[in-house]
This record gives sequence, C-alpha cells and structure tokens, in this order.
Amino acid sequence: MSNQQAKTIKKDSADVLNYKNLAAKIEKKSAVIGVVGLGYVGLPLAVAFAEANFHVTGIDADPQKVSKLNKGISYLLDIESERLKATVKSGFLKATTEGSALRRADAIIICVPTPLTKTKEPDLSFIVEAANLIARYVRSGQLVILESTTYPGTTREVVLPLLESTGLQVGIDYFLTFSPERIDPGSKKFTIKNTPKVVGGMEPHSTKLAAMLYKHVSEKVIEVSTPEAAEMDKVFENVFRSVNIAMVNELAKLCERMNISVWEVIKAASSKPFGYMAFYPGPGVGGHCIPLDPYYLAAKAKEYNFHTRFIELAAEINETMPEYIVTSTIEALNTTNKSLKGSKVLILGVAYKKDIEDLRESPSERILELLMERGTDVSYHDPYIHEVKIHHKTLKSIKLDKKALSSYDCVVIATDHSSYDLDFIIQNSKLVFDTRGCTIPRKAANLIRLGE
Ligand SMILES: NC(=O)c1ccc[n+]([C@@H]2O[C@H](COP(=O)([O-])OP(=O)(O)OC[C@H]3O[C@@H](n4cnc5c(N)ncnc54)[C@H](O)[C@@H]3O)[C@@H](O)[C@H]2O)c1
Repeated sequence: MSNQQAKTIKKDSADVLNYKNLAAKIEKKSAVIGVVGLGYVGLPLAVAFAEANFHVTGIDADPQKVSKLNKGISYLLDIESERLKATVKSGFLKATTEGSALRRADAIIICVPTPLTKTKEPDLSFIVEAANLIARYVRSGQLVILESTTYPGTTREVVLPLLESTGLQVGIDYFLTFSPERIDPGSKKFTIKNTPKVVGGMEPHSTKLAAMLYKHVSEKVIEVSTPEAAEMDKVFENVFRSVNIAMVNELAKLCERMNISVWEVIKAASSKPFGYMAFYPGPGVGGHCIPLDPYYLAAKAKEYNFHTRFIELAAEINETMPEYIVTSTIEALNTTNKSLKGSKVLILGVAYKKDIEDLRESPSERILELLMERGTDVSYHDPYIHEVKIHHKTLKSIKLDKKALSSYDCVVIATDHSSYDLDFIIQNSKLVFDTRGCTIPRKAANLIRLGE
C-alpha cells in the first residue's frame, strides 16, 4: 500500500468515525449544544433544544442577557419567563459570556446579527467574530451550523477558511452546515416546531448531521445540496416579501388617487384560491430581515456583474413609505386647517410589527424623525417599548387615555398592536390616520386610511 493510499484510508475512517459518533450522540440526545448569540433567533432555539432534553449552553457577548437567562428572566416577549425558568431549573439550559464553553459542545449554532454598514453594505463582522471564537475551540467531531441570514457563499467563503485555519478538515474532522432561521416574531401560530427547517451542508455528512439534530425540535427538515442553496433560499424568501410589499405599497398609492379602497381590492383578490397571495400596504418594512436582506443579495450579485434592479427598486419603494406617511399626515392636517409645523402628532406603535418589542429598522422611528425635522410636536405610545431615542432626544411612551388622545391634532396608527382599543381611539381623537388598515370596517368623519 502506498503512503497516499494509507493516508486516504486513515482519513476516510476518521470521517466515518466522527460522523457515526456524533450521529449517535444526537440520536441519544447526549450531544451538547452551544448557541452563539442569544437574541430573537438564538434564545428561542436554545430553549427549544433544552425543552427537547439536550444540554444547551448559550454564549452571548452581552453579560446582561446571560445574567437574566441564568436567573430565568426572559428579555423577549416570545419566550415567557415561566418557560425559561423551567428550562434553566431543569439544568438543560445555561448561559455564559465565556467562549471556552464551546470546547464541550458537540454542535455549535451561530445566531449572531448580520446588519448593514452605513453605506448599506453587508456587515459580516459578527459572523467573523463568532467564527474566530469557534476556531479557537473547534475540535474533531463537532458540527458547526450558521443560522444568521446572509448572502450565498458566506459559509464557504467566510466561515470555512476561518475554521480550516486550525488545520482541521471539513467533512473529515468536523462538519459545517448552513440552516436559515425562519422565526415569525410575535406569532403564536408558527413556531420552531411547525416551521420546516432547511439544511445545506458543505458535504453530505454535514447535511445529514444537521438534519438529524433539527428533527428533535422541528417536525420537518428539508435537505438541500449545498450551503449556497440554503443561503439563497433564505434571502429569496425575504426578498419575495420585500418585492410583494413594495408592489402593494405602490398599488395603495394609486388606489388613493383613483378613489378605490386598496383593502377592498386585496380582500376581493384573496378570494382567488390559486395564483395569489395577500400582502398588505403599510408605513414601510422593519426588523432585522426584510429591510436588510435585499442589500445582502444585491451586494453579492455585483461580484457576478449582475444588477438586481427589481430587488433594489422594491427596497427603495418600501424605504420611501415613511415619507409618504408624513406627506399624507400633512394632507390630513390640512383638512382641519392645521399645518404640520407646530401641530401635536401622536404615533401609536413604534415596534416594527404588531405585538412584538423589536424596534430595529422600524418605519415608526423614521416617521418620528421626519416629523421632528419638520417642527412637529411629536409623542408616541407603545405597550412594549418604553422609550426611544430620536435625533439625540429621548422620548418616553405616553399614557394612553382619553385626555391624552384628545390633546393631539392627529393620531397616526403606525403599528397595529392587538391591545389597541380602536373604537376608543377613534372616539377620543380629533383625527386618526390608520396606516395599517386595522380600523376596517369602521367609518368615521375623523378617520382616514392609507390606500383609500
Ligand atoms: N429577528 C428575526 O425575526 C430573524 C428572523 C430570521 C432570521 N434572523 C437572522 O438571525 C440573525 C440573528 O438575528 P437576531 O434577531 O436574533 O439578532 P439579535 O441582535 O436579537 O441577537 C444577536 C445576539 O448575538 C449576540 N452576539 C453578537 N456577537 C456575538 C459574539 N461574537 N459572540 C456571542 N454573542 C454575540 C448579541 O449580543 C445578541 O444577543 C440575523 O442574521 C438575522 O438576520 C432574524
């Protein structure tokens, strides 16, 4: 036997051995899971695995989150403290700021942020930092999974080289997979359990191991052939939403001019049982996905000398919606002989969508900024967000009562939180501008709606 043949046989057996050992640990639930980043994505995932009786260690750079988690105090609306307390008490979940905890983990899942830079370029610094941290502790027999949303190629071009710099080889010593997170914050209907999970590994064993792992928390796992397919799937899902929301936002503006209710049109179109899916207009898109992901894809496409015109146009239309809402507020105030400057305007809801406490990229923040720049006396209310900083000024959520409502020249419903008593709001306000269609089918002389 030549040296080369002997080496190949040795490597093949290491590959199979590492795969089989890890597969057995996953099967028996003795695999220890490390979750890097305990935010909106990482915390629910860590809790789900702990509830499935896996020992989970969450690693987060924020000591406050770590301390709260270890005390069983939740910092997210989607995870009740009682639930968190039970998983911490059971001994299956704990958190630390110490990266060295990764040494014990058999599977490491990366759930760190993927923001944009000031010039709207992908900022992969959190992924790079997390991958460098893992590279410090990676060992034979581990599975590393990237869940952060990013452009196709990140797992292979960014994470892999950092892990390979340790001398370990993917598919032989350790395994590497991309699996996009698909949480729907605030939703009681869609959970990790009933939302299919997509996995795409660097090689077949990486895919298989990730699929085996996720089957313990998700009813359905879909395997794709590469990390790139899984990465593209995630950005495509979000770009699909961005494009459709932009289209319906444009339609809402046209409907206003044509004196047609866009809401009535959407309701009628929704009766078609095939070939149509309802999207709704609003003050713009928010959160850590839909406003950002089109730019991730657009940036990567440029490497291929490809310009994603359609996708960028959609992002642009959605981004101009807060300005449109401000213009519409000016027009609404005009009908009461008031100008925007000097008027008192109340924004209801600053979270980027209903029933959540996430302010990131929220269109309400932009609306508040624009109103402030135009000399408006602005206030806001949000049941979940107690203060916001706009142009270096801290605003605190007001107490929402009859007296307060009646003191504003215009009340703008920017986020349709379920807790809002819409009849009470309409009855006690001088003027209400509904940007979400949540007041339908109400009609009142002081009520106007986007898209009508
Ligand atoms: N929020 C959503 O609805 C959602 C849905 C699907 C996908 N995603 C994607 O998931 C990823 C995470 O998003 P999120 O909303 O959970 O973000 P988040 O900001 O809520 O949480 C990220 C966490 O990572 C921690 N962190 C950052 N760098 C770290 C490091 N080097 N080591 C340890 N911890 C670190 C932060 O302290 C924070 O707690 C993003 O790529 C996002 O696009 C988010």
